[in-house]
Amino acid sequence: MGTKVLLPLTFFISLALASSLLSCTQAFSIREATVAELQRAFRSNQLTSRQLTEFYIGEIRRLNPVLHGVIEVNPEALHQADAADRDRKAGVHGRSWSGLHGIPILLKDNIGTKDALNTTAGSFALLGSKVSRDAGVVVRLRRAGAIILGKASMTEWASFRSLTQPNGWSARGGQGKNPYVLSADPCGSSSGPAISVAANLVAVSLGTETDGSILCPSSANSVVGIKPTVGLTSRAGVIPVTPRQDTIGPITRTVADAVCVLEAIAGYDYIDAGATQAASKYIPKGGYLQFLKADGLRGKRIGIVRDPFFNFTGQPDEARAFQSHFRTLRDGGAILVDNLKIDNLDVILNFTVSGEALASLAEFKIALNSYLESLVTSPVRSLADVIAFNNNNAQLELTNTIDQSIFLLSEATNGIGSTENSAIQNMAQLTHDGFLKLISQHRLDAVMAPGSAIAPVLAIGGFPGINVPAGYDSTGVPFGVSFGGLKGSEPKLIEIAYGFEQATKVRKPPNNQNLQIH
Ligand SMILES: *[C@@H]1O[C@H](CO)[C@@H](O)[C@H](O)[C@H]1NC(C)=O
Ligand SMILES: *[C@@H]1O[C@H](CO)[C@@H](O)[C@H](O)[C@H]1NC(C)=O
Ligand SMILES: *[C@@H]1O[C@H](CO)[C@@H](O)[C@H](O)[C@H]1NC(C)=O
Repeated sequence: MGTKVLLPLTFFISLALASSLLSCTQAFSIREATVAELQRAFRSNQLTSRQLTEFYIGEIRRLNPVLHGVIEVNPEALHQADAADRDRKAGVHGRSWSGLHGIPILLKDNIGTKDALNTTAGSFALLGSKVSRDAGVVVRLRRAGAIILGKASMTEWASFRSLTQPNGWSARGGQGKNPYVLSADPCGSSSGPAISVAANLVAVSLGTETDGSILCPSSANSVVGIKPTVGLTSRAGVIPVTPRQDTIGPITRTVADAVCVLEAIAGYDYIDAGATQAASKYIPKGGYLQFLKADGLRGKRIGIVRDPFFNFTGQPDEARAFQSHFRTLRDGGAILVDNLKIDNLDVILNFTVSGEALASLAEFKIALNSYLESLVTSPVRSLADVIAFNNNNAQLELTNTIDQSIFLLSEATNGIGSTENSAIQNMAQLTHDGFLKLISQHRLDAVMAPGSAIAPVLAIGGFPGINVPAGYDSTGVPFGVSFGGLKGSEPKLIEIAYGFEQATKVRKPPNNQNLQIH
């Protein structure tokens, strides 16, 4: 004799609601998915690498004519995706599986790949050149099982061609657009990687930075960028600006994704032996993922240099956002050390006075000539050849407003002489008396600043920085916050950046409606 229980109608309604909610949360959406979510979807057979790659190729077809974030799609990407799916299905565990297995990545167009893709820094001068091997970071990405989806656009020659060149413009890629506000500056020079991850054209990407080129576009496009300590990631096979400052790092939608990419690319490379050997001591046992801590802000001493970084005259949205962020950081247990000064900051921020311009101009010519000579085939073999190419192909490469003034200044240099050496010494002294002194006097873990304002300080010292989305102004243009620290301070910067991101969750995807408007 069973008891007949009459369940009220509302029970069934709530049951139906619950199950539809359940299926809603289970229905997997690629847009905005993190690497960890994509891996979970792979494991639970909700998604294959092929489907993921096809989705991104479709989105690139649909949106790239407006955004110009991508220069080339890899014709081998779907084959690589199929191979990743086969490996996963077969449970191949013979080699190390990483978070990037089966995940598509876009590479800034100055990162060399020995495949069907061109590596041109956005310039027609390098079209058809062949590299002798993959860049060091690409070797590591392939080993980790990542899918090389293609090459992202960039400010041509990493902004080192013309004093009048707009951010995000290259002759091959056209004008890269900020997906939030198409008329807004996307910044650069890693414009394409930032635009592409922001608009969900890819899961993750790699950029490069000499001075601000990861931090600034990350800030402008509401994504996360890590500018690693110089030498933590190999620069081998990457079209250089100056080995003294160049570094390769992730641009992604979340801190965890960026750390996942950093984990895959950091480490020694015999082809960039000096710098990667020197920096290998900074790589922590057990890697970087352990620093994605919910309480990462607790006890962190964060320096604030108000003048000139937090002067928000005429920027009320930024002023309000940062007031709230200071509170959030304190609530999370961080100790804000306020009203600090960096000695000679006005000099450090002016690259003509600091010596950065003078040294870089001479270093660029040497480094670029050496890169061009190393190519298997190339239409250009020297900076002089590139300058001549631009003059001979002015209809492609030069405009009334976009010249090659920096190239001409660089070509006129003659190696590292006494003036260059004193410029380099001057930067070392500025770093010693400025950032290093500030950090040690106040026992700081990091210094924070809006956007990429602190980039020159980090650039001349070879220091790391992380940008995290921090807000949108009243017109919808994003802005970020960067945390910078001493060489090898990535673990602490990751804790701070992750803690800040989890406490604020500022990032929202660009309005797709907006992207259809031409
Ligand atoms: C690389 O450039 C050549 C032109 O030199 C072009 O034919 C080829 O399609 C390009 N590769 C890709 C993957 O777009
Ligand atoms: C802040 O910047 C404005 C210009 O944007 C300048 O006029 C003002 O003097 C600055 N204030 C401080 C305190 O530096
Ligand atoms: C940098 O310093 C030079 C020389 O003093 C000056 O002419 C120039 O305007 C400064 N640049 C900026 C951006 O302040």
